[in-house]
Amino acid sequence: MRILVTGGAGYIGSHTCLELLNSGHQVVVVDNLSNSSVEALKRVEQLTGQSIKFYQADIRDEKALSAIFAAEKVDAVIHFAGSKAVGESVAKPLFYYENNVSASGLLMQVMLQHQVKTLVFSSSATVYGEPVSSPIREDFAVHPESPYGRSKLMVEQIMSDLVVAQPDFSAISLRYFNPVGAHESGLIGEDPNGIPNNLMPFINQVAIGRRPYLSVFGDDYDTPDGTGVRDYIHVCDLASGHVKALETLHQNAGFHVFNLGTGQGVSVLEMVDAYRRISGQLIAYQVAPRRPGDIACYYGDPSLAAEKLGWKAERGLDQMVADSWKWQKLNPHGYTRRS
Ligand code: NAD
Ligand code: WQD
Repeated sequence: MRILVTGGAGYIGSHTCLELLNSGHQVVVVDNLSNSSVEALKRVEQLTGQSIKFYQADIRDEKALSAIFAAEKVDAVIHFAGSKAVGESVAKPLFYYENNVSASGLLMQVMLQHQVKTLVFSSSATVYGEPVSSPIREDFAVHPESPYGRSKLMVEQIMSDLVVAQPDFSAISLRYFNPVGAHESGLIGEDPNGIPNNLMPFINQVAIGRRPYLSVFGDDYDTPDGTGVRDYIHVCDLASGHVKALETLHQNAGFHVFNLGTGQGVSVLEMVDAYRRISGQLIAYQVAPRRPGDIACYYGDPSLAAEKLGWKAERGLDQMVADSWKWQKLNPHGYTRRS
């Protein structure tokens, strides 16, 4: 298939482009490079020996988007483009509703104009909000607690309404838990701007000496060691989940939702221990107050994806850490040379 990947230069997008190419698909990327570097796509080309058609464009630009669809004749879209920082979404809600919700609506409109009727969307486990318990299943109640989370849920609702009006449209929403890791080559990985918000990129920067220590946000949660428990999933497993979803559900009408996670909870201190053991680096940390809005324990039940897509995560915690560390070591300042 010929696949349009919005946000394909980003962290998850670049790993998915690689997996698509390795699975025999053709890839067209649209990205405005607001949070990524074109270098990621060059490295995917280097790793696969295949080329990617790249458009530097904003998906909010209807004219540009329509011209790309007219030129490229794609079979399906994987939609990663958007903004993803929970805290920023609280400060700039209107921007999040524009860049995540309005832009996704526009994308679906342009898809219909060009008879493209398969969409795979990057949703987030954050749509569940505080769950009654973990593991979290897809039929649990959704009540996201930030504008970011609500923007993801709104896009899911638009997709669900669209398949009622367009019964031949296949809309697939993948709710990711905590993506971490990098391709095993260490050539592509996560390259956050500024101070990382998320645990793994922060530990990476402590390991490489860019930050003095990790703040562990709370050690008094009701979890085995008192620190927060999450469902970390290797980004390459996440990437293969997209390819499986696409191959299984292309032209399979309706709205489909799947959790993508491992089903295993890992605490902050377990992550620090694994990182120390695998990298051999001393990961200094200090216990700090709880981060507002954090939940003690959050992990998914991935059995629906196993049953319907034949997908399950194959890489364990050690590989997530080993690949993150390799990426960080080979690229201490990410794709660019900023310090
Ligand atoms: P990322 O920021 O690395 O990738 C997003 C890409 O979209 C970037 O390359 C950015 O330049 C591009 N982009 C943003 N707005 C755009 C626009 N208007 N037009 C064109 N391009 C635009 O983020 P990521 O971690 O790869 O996440 C990809 C998707 O997965 C996002 O939608 C995110 O909300 C979702 N998601 C991420 C996580 C996570 O923890 N990384 C978890 C759950 C869901
Ligand atoms: C993981 C654990 C922290 C940083 C976020 C978004 C979610 C999704 C994934 C997009 C928690 C602890 C963290 C640090 C720490 N993104 N921590 N020190 O909060 O589960 O999820 O990313 O959809 O929407 O909310 O991930 O990596 O920030 O935190 O102790 O410096 O690590 O308290 O227990 P989170 P995270």
